[in-house]
Amino acid sequence: MTDENLSSHLAELDLSPTDELRSQAVGTEDLFAEADADREAFWAKQARERLTWSKDFDQTLDWSEAPFAKWFVGGELNVAYNCVDRHVEAGNGERVALHFEGEGGDTRTVTYAQLKDDVCRAANALVELGVEKGDRVAIYLPMIPEAIATMLACARLGAPHSVIFGGFSAEALRTRINDAEARVVVTADGQWRRGKAAPLKPAVDEALAHGDNPVEKVLVVKRTESEVEWTDGRDVWWHDLVDGQSTEHTPEPMDSEHPLFILYTSGTTGKPKGIFHTTGGYLTQTAYTNAVVHDVHTETDVYWCTADIGWVTGHSYIVYGPLANGATQVLYEGTPDTPHQGRWWEVVEKYKVSILYTAPTAIRTFMKWGADIPAKFDLSSIRVLGSVGEPINPEAWLWYRKNIGGDKAPIVDTWWQTETGAIMISPLPGVTTLEPGSAQRPIPGISAEILDDEGQPFTEPDKVGYLVLTQPWPSMLRGIWGDPERYKETYWSRFGEKYYFAGDGAKYDDKGNIWLLGRVDDVMNVSGHRLSTAEIESALVSHPSVAEAAVVGASDETTGQAVVAFVILRGGAEDHGDETVQELRNHVAHEIGPIAKPRQIMVVPELPKTRSGKIMRRLLKDVAENREVGDVTTLADSSVMNLIQQGLSKDS
Ligand code: WT7
Repeated sequence: MTDENLSSHLAELDLSPTDELRSQAVGTEDLFAEADADREAFWAKQARERLTWSKDFDQTLDWSEAPFAKWFVGGELNVAYNCVDRHVEAGNGERVALHFEGEGGDTRTVTYAQLKDDVCRAANALVELGVEKGDRVAIYLPMIPEAIATMLACARLGAPHSVIFGGFSAEALRTRINDAEARVVVTADGQWRRGKAAPLKPAVDEALAHGDNPVEKVLVVKRTESEVEWTDGRDVWWHDLVDGQSTEHTPEPMDSEHPLFILYTSGTTGKPKGIFHTTGGYLTQTAYTNAVVHDVHTETDVYWCTADIGWVTGHSYIVYGPLANGATQVLYEGTPDTPHQGRWWEVVEKYKVSILYTAPTAIRTFMKWGADIPAKFDLSSIRVLGSVGEPINPEAWLWYRKNIGGDKAPIVDTWWQTETGAIMISPLPGVTTLEPGSAQRPIPGISAEILDDEGQPFTEPDKVGYLVLTQPWPSMLRGIWGDPERYKETYWSRFGEKYYFAGDGAKYDDKGNIWLLGRVDDVMNVSGHRLSTAEIESALVSHPSVAEAAVVGASDETTGQAVVAFVILRGGAEDHGDETVQELRNHVAHEIGPIAKPRQIMVVPELPKTRSGKIMRRLLKDVAENREVGDVTTLADSSVMNLIQQGLSKDS
């Protein structure tokens, strides 16, 4: 579709909520008024109505040590109790919590009663391994029910978990285990990926081999029956230790501000940041948003969030939000094209999924595969669709609504971050008239603004500025693990201490909708995953042949952005063309993980730098996106770009 066709097509659509949604949706217009009238009272009500507290809180927000927030001060609750036990106590033990679907087609149905038993067994096992309240537990597991049981077992004990995505390498695992000083690692022999057993435990062995960590025990789930090496005294099989444990475990109430988890994310420097979240505020906002944004009706809906638990989306919208609400959900282990490209739609049909939450990258991939694939399945159960991770382009939006949503399901385009913990900007299904491509407005209880270069808020349409959050919110990060200064500096200094700087560019349209325009810092967004240019550059220069490296995120039709690297080889290192490039790509995969592998690596004689030695990524981005190179006048040596381009055209 051309842009013009697209906009005239869009103009014809009626994207206001249907009468049915208006009357039945969880999120209502009234919520906005209520939150505007008294924000703190609004959140206090959400906290009390949605969660079960062992001890009520006496202060909603303590912002006296800003930007370090305390929410629901004095309150006590146990997250695992809220996510499982209380549903069983309320008589919903037989309700399905998880419809687990393995990649190979093996399935498990886990009810809330069973999940409670699983969580208790895992908690007792962790206690036996010496885990105490406050200890950190690293989790490096596939998308299997044990992953959820382990996270909730940690929460039950007050032992913050640090989940590391199964696609990260041994090296990335090591830095994360060490930074969090984890005492126990929970992993599996392997995971199913595209019909093959992909190993997991060897990466843990390699990460721990350095000996510079406090890990005492490694608990190993048997998933793929792959051969694994065994360290006696350290390694323990899950089935040996966990299966025989008691299904009774008394949850201990935690302070509302007790740390719940650490999750590492890429920042603008080479060192990943340990974003940490706490108990009461996080659970309140994840439960609230899962209800009002995804519109989950726990009695009737089957909800499916396709994220991996290794990312914040999996934490907030597979584990904590939906389980706190008592939802029934699908947990799928594998890739979307195994054993065939209709796998997801087969899953939707099989479990009658009614709410689907996924990422624009996935949608664009399905577009490429063709609409005839989902058309072969009965998707009529779908009533709400969600999108997260990056801006969704109107064309993908329309495709999603038409081919997956039966031309009627509302799409909630949800903007948020690892740091925000939960959804911040999004339409509400029963309230908002949708605007394809825009995340639209802050949800009730949240405030955002767009600032200009001088830090002044503005509302005029089409002017580009910086997105900021203007009020603390319950699920906000409480800091960067072990580095409070970096927290202040990264988020609360760019526009003064009043504004949380999100790192995203944004603009308004003439209806007052917010459009997110991507990162304004040196952070890339590849398939909705955050990667830092500095981290990949430092991985590249750690290779003996590389003298210097510069990385940019170039726009890519499917993945949103793709990693493109420019490297200067060391004197003496020979350029073997493709072979060198392959070796460097693999090196990045080894240092960080396959997700960080550059799409393209260009060997160049020089890099464009300013007089103060800063690499001008803007110009490299022009090259990577095949554009005419922009203004070069601030370069120390303005002929560098010619040199780079001559070199590249010679290669191709
Ligand atoms: C960055 C946060 C939120 C969980 C997954 C990613 C981008 C996220 C949207 C959206 C436009 C979006 C932003 C943000 N982003 N959702 N709906 N529209 N951009 O979490 O890895 O912490 O990344 O993802 O750039 O800053 P994350």
